[in-house]
Formats: sequence, C-alpha cells, structure tokens
Amino acid sequence: MTERAPVLSVRGLSVRFLLPGGRRIAAVTDAHFDVAPGECLVLIGESGCGKSVLASALLGLLPANAQTAGHAHLGDLELLTADERVLARTVRGRRIGLIPQSPAAHLTPVRTIRSQLAETVARLTGVRGRTALRAAAEQAAERAEFPPGHLDRYPHELSGGLAQRAATALALIGDAPLLLADEPTTGLDRDLVDRTVDELRRHVDADRALLMITHDLAAAERVADRVAVMYAGRIVELAAASDFFGASGPRHPYSQGLLQALPDRSFTPIPGMPPELGDLPEGCAFAARCDRATDACTALPPFTGSIACHHPAPAPTPENIRA
Ligand SMILES: Nc1ncnc2c1ncn2[C@@H]1O[C@H](COP(=O)(O)OP(=O)(O)OP(=O)(O)O)[C@@H](O)[C@H]1O
Ligand code: SF4
Ligand SMILES: [Mg+2]
Repeated sequence: MTERAPVLSVRGLSVRFLLPGGRRIAAVTDAHFDVAPGECLVLIGESGCGKSVLASALLGLLPANAQTAGHAHLGDLELLTADERVLARTVRGRRIGLIPQSPAAHLTPVRTIRSQLAETVARLTGVRGRTALRAAAEQAAERAEFPPGHLDRYPHELSGGLAQRAATALALIGDAPLLLADEPTTGLDRDLVDRTVDELRRHVDADRALLMITHDLAAAERVADRVAVMYAGRIVELAAASDFFGASGPRHPYSQGLLQALPDRSFTPIPGMPPELGDLPEGCAFAARCDRATDACTALPPFTGSIACHHPAPAPTPENIRA
C-alpha cells in the first residue's frame, strides 16, 4: 500500500449499548484500521457481529443508548465527537457517501426516485435547471443500473433489489472521498452484483476510498484490496485480498472457516454459534468453535495489526504464496 494519508483512520473504536437493567452489549470492541485513497477495504463476518454498528458509529447514526470510545478520523475531523450539525451538513453525503443496509427505510417514501436523485444532485453538485437536473438524475440512475423506466416510481413501488440500486445511485452522487457501502448487493442477481461492485470499484479507481460490508465473499474478492474479518465485535484479521483469497489463504481459524463454508470450497459450515455480545468470554471469543484452541486461548489474543489469534496459520511468504 502507498504511504499516503488515509481517508479514514480508526483506532480503538468501541461501541457499547446500554440496556435497561444495566446490561451492556459489546457490539464493537477496539477496532483498528485505515482506508487509503484508491483503496477498498471489505469488512466481513457473520450476522450480528457488529459490522453495521461500526458503520453507524462512523456516521454519527447510533441510537441514544450507545456509548462510543476510541477515535475515527476522517482527515482532521474526529467523527466520534463531531457535532451533529457538522456531520449532517458536511460529512454525510458530502465527505462520506452511505449505501445503507436497509435502503427502503433510507429513501423518502413520498417522493419519486427521480425527484430524490435530482434533489441530491442539486444539493451536492450545484447543477441547476430542470433539463440539466433531469439529465444528471438519469446519469446517476445509470451508474447504479437503476432502470430509467422506474424513475417515476415511489419507494414502496420498488422491489428490494431496485430500492438497493436507488440507494446506491443516491450514494454515488457527489463522489464523496469515502463511500461506506453496507451490504450493497443484497437482493441482486449475480450479474447485477458484478456490475454494482464494478461501479463501486470505479469509485475506488478514481482515487477515492471504499469501506464495503458484505456477506458475499465472491463480491468481496472481486472488489477488495484488503479484507477485515470481524468476529463477536472484534476485527480478528486484516489481510491483503490477494493473500486472503489467494494461495496463502487466511490465517485466522475463523476466517478459514468462513472460506471453507463456501459451496465452491469444502461447503463445511463452522460448527456452533457465535457468543452473545452481552456475555462474551474473557479469552478468545472463537475458542468454543475453534479446533486449534489451547489453554493459551483463555487469554484474549492481542490484535497485532493483522491478526488476533494465539495459533494463526503462518504469515504469507513467497513459498506459501506460490504453493
Ligand atoms: N440499539 C441497539 N441496542 C442494543 N443492541 C443493539 C442495538 N443495535 C444493534 N445492536 C446489537 O449489536 C450487534 C451488532 O449488530 P449489527 O447490526 O452491527 O450486526 P451486523 O454484523 O451488521 O449483522 P448483519 O450481517 O446481520 O447485518 C447485534 O447483536 C445487535 O443486536
Ligand atoms: S486464539 Fe485460540 S481459540 Fe482463538 S482463534 Fe486462535 S487458536 Fe482459535
Ligand atoms: Mg448489518
């Protein structure tokens, strides 16, 4: 990777939800990562591990019962403590584009997709005039494969996949330096998945940054420069995509399990279930499911910057990359 300053720098980010009765949900714990200009970092992990909460923390969109700690710098702006007015006026949409996990809820129900696209074009790009706005809205729709014949529909008239594409079109307007895409390909068939991630890749290739959350490892492999794996609220592995999906493979037993569960690999699911985020063990949270666990794993494995495991597979070398 280049030595250029990251677009986003996350250090020790933790999110706790405080529940009635004093219960605490450790949704995100001590996350560390950077995303550079011209880089796509893909965040993967099982349902409920904290991926969307992490994204919401970066955008100041957590509910009132959430507490955050640590740092998340967008250039010189500390996102975690930024004023809501600053986030609303200068960050969301302008400096960070968001493709939300629930696009239908994100779209304005009483306005057509065309009018929402035109309004966003006018707000973020300064394009004025009915004809110019109409053309720019159609162009925005095309970038996200949103069919022009559906532009005059309201959100409730769209399928899940079309709402997804409308939300993607909205997020791409303004060409924000950082795009945060939370499951941007849900509900799309394989061909559309490929075309959507290729458009997101074009955003990256124009020297902008992309943090993409996905369950779709084929989409991740297609777009990622680096992969972050999250388990029970912690990032347990951060690797170059070429190593992770290549011959050397992932190093963390959980990441290895995720890949082995794929139909085109051994199609073997990881046994057991993730722990409750309100009742995490003191040591490695994966120990109950891990066939490499030893007594050492009753102590929390520190995150080295690339791995959090007491017994990881060897780091990539010229030999195991060739193997
Ligand atoms: N407002 C809240 N109060 C309490 N717990 C919450 C709240 N919002 C989220 N959580 C919990 O935080 C954890 C992480 O949720 P999150 O939505 O980030 O998961 P995810 O990794 O995005 O899952 P998925 O892949 O299904 O989208 C979950 O256990 C969830 O129940
Ligand atoms: S620390 Fe131990 S239990 Fe956890 S993933 Fe590594 S080997 Fe398995
Ligand atoms: Mg989510």
